[in-house]
Amino acid sequence: SRKFGFVVVSNRLPVDRIEPENGEGSWQRSPGGLVTAVEPVMQANDGAWVGWPGIADREYDAFESDGVHLVPVALSEAEVADYYEGFSNDTLWPLYHDVIMPPTYHREWWESYVRVNQRFADAAAAVAKKNAIVWVHDYQLQLVPAMLRTKRPDLTIGFFNHIPFPAYGIYSQLPWRKQILNGLLGADLIGFQRGADAGNFARAVRRSLGYSAKGTVVEVPEKGPDGAPAIRSVIARHFPISIDVAGYEELAEREDVKARAAEIRHELGDPDVVMLGVDRLDYTKGIGHRMKAFGELLEEGRLDVRNATLVQVASPSRERVETYKTLRDEIELTVGRVNGDFGAIGHQAISYFHHSYPREEMVALFLASDIMLVTALRDGMNLVAKEYVASRIDDDGVLVLSEFAGAADELKSALLINPHDIDGLKDAIMAAVEMPQRERQTRMRALRKRVREHDVERWSASFLDVLSGVNPDRAPDL
Ligand code: G6P
Repeated sequence: SRKFGFVVVSNRLPVDRIEPENGEGSWQRSPGGLVTAVEPVMQANDGAWVGWPGIADREYDAFESDGVHLVPVALSEAEVADYYEGFSNDTLWPLYHDVIMPPTYHREWWESYVRVNQRFADAAAAVAKKNAIVWVHDYQLQLVPAMLRTKRPDLTIGFFNHIPFPAYGIYSQLPWRKQILNGLLGADLIGFQRGADAGNFARAVRRSLGYSAKGTVVEVPEKGPDGAPAIRSVIARHFPISIDVAGYEELAEREDVKARAAEIRHELGDPDVVMLGVDRLDYTKGIGHRMKAFGELLEEGRLDVRNATLVQVASPSRERVETYKTLRDEIELTVGRVNGDFGAIGHQAISYFHHSYPREEMVALFLASDIMLVTALRDGMNLVAKEYVASRIDDDGVLVLSEFAGAADELKSALLINPHDIDGLKDAIMAAVEMPQRERQTRMRALRKRVREHDVERWSASFLDVLSGVNPDRAPDL
């Protein structure tokens, strides 16, 4: 079988398998920021991508798609329930997002997580050439780096954590806190979104494992080739992820996309102010907080439903996990209440959509919106904030951005808010509504400059630069 000098490993492949009850199966682009970020890197390198096709109990052979060699890893129904929905999304996800929801700890879930991580590690080891570079992604696969190193000490291994890494007071709840840290420390380089995440990780390693760290370079005690004690350095550093800026700009320049933006405003009743929220339907995103703020502004008469409207796109996510079901019910109840209380005939307060849209339609929505509301309670980065900025080639529009999203470290010309402070959020929305055109332009220009200079290509290049520098003597056998 073919071997590759560059291998990416992530829970999801860039495409999901769709199998309709009656009809032919097909491959569709998968959700989430990871795919958007990593796909361009893969297309530029002749690499292999190891991941799950998003459907249980199916085995698929490796295949080529858009110039990338895809290696599907099969998961059973039970593994989807225990490793993916359970340990990844009902234990680690809420824990790493500052326990916004209480994490659930089940020993069977952990056992499934270990077994599935081993399967991903074995699949990656099987397609990697001698001295290959392997890049492992995200919280679903934190044990893979150490498993890979045991099996293939020749590899150079990178890991990138796309979500936050919590403070030790929170992380230390995890019954398997040592195993996870040891899993990650199998990598040569561990990337995080924010400096604070890398710092939290280094502190967890010191306090949980007792290893010393110089700054955020962790010293892992090991046995050298002669059996004598040796030290292996693992670098933890932040590399804020980004988007394909040029791709968004191109779409924003297209006449059909601009026409669609005008049409959207018209279909909304040509209001003075269009506000927009775009999220996976997740409790980390603060969707309810933003609806509460908007509802109060209507109630107090600071906004009028005849000239201000909120469009909320909430794409379906992890729908079999209980906390996500409850969240959906709560959000849909809130939408109904706000519309029932404040809507008028021909003027809906909130237009809510529980589906995802193609990128063209998203860019049209960005262009149609005066104010983008990103009110996450905790978010690794939040790429939607960057997508909005990249699309506003007209240097207009106001970004209201939570300081708890990683993007806040970079997008300092946004209106930064604390989403828990509903009065503060309301004031920021009103400041956005009333902001003079000159100020909107100055802010958006500064935001666009930042995002253009730090696009996804720069992100992956800087990570891979540091990673390939750690073993300069070991070039992959291409
Ligand atoms: C976030 C995570 C990704 C994940 C995506 C979609 O962006 O960091 O790892 O793929 O959400 O979630 P899902 O559970 O559908 O893969």
